[in-house]
Amino acid sequence: MNISLNVNGRSHALEIADGNTPLLWVIRDILDLKGTKFGCGKAACGACTLHVDGEAVRSCSYGVKFAEGKEITTIEGLGTKENPHPVQQAWIEEVVPQCGYCQPGFMMATAALLNKVPKPTDQDIDDNIINVCRCATYYRMRKAIHRAAELHTPNEVVQNQNA
Ligand code: FES
Ligand code: FES
Repeated sequence: MNISLNVNGRSHALEIADGNTPLLWVIRDILDLKGTKFGCGKAACGACTLHVDGEAVRSCSYGVKFAEGKEITTIEGLGTKENPHPVQQAWIEEVVPQCGYCQPGFMMATAALLNKVPKPTDQDIDDNIINVCRCATYYRMRKAIHRAAELHTPNEVVQNQNA
């Protein structure tokens, strides 16, 4: 099928054999955006989280055909080195990552949460940020989420439209 995808503010006309192909494979293997990670492949770990129309979506289990006509944002489109998104800034300040593999998914999940719940409580975090980190960086992550909430204004404009 022919499909048009809008990723980080850029439009891509693609030919995909099967519309049920996970969006993750298209993002990583066709568009070469490697920040979004593969972990479990069954919507359980959150490593593959990106945004579709501002909602956090586990892209390993989301058919590419459902993304047509929607705004997709990956970690590459969240901010830039020079102008990081508040979530990225908070992650830097709290030195959150260990191996780093799970972190893009956590940051995307957090950015989506803050647009809905600007000042999340610990309970909000427990209820909504249910990704898995094998290095167990949860304590630093919680601090970073609260710090990001201080830095964040709701519906932060995605800064790097050309990533
Ligand atoms: S790789 Fe998608 S949720 Fe684990
Ligand atoms: S930092 Fe290593 S898996 Fe989370």
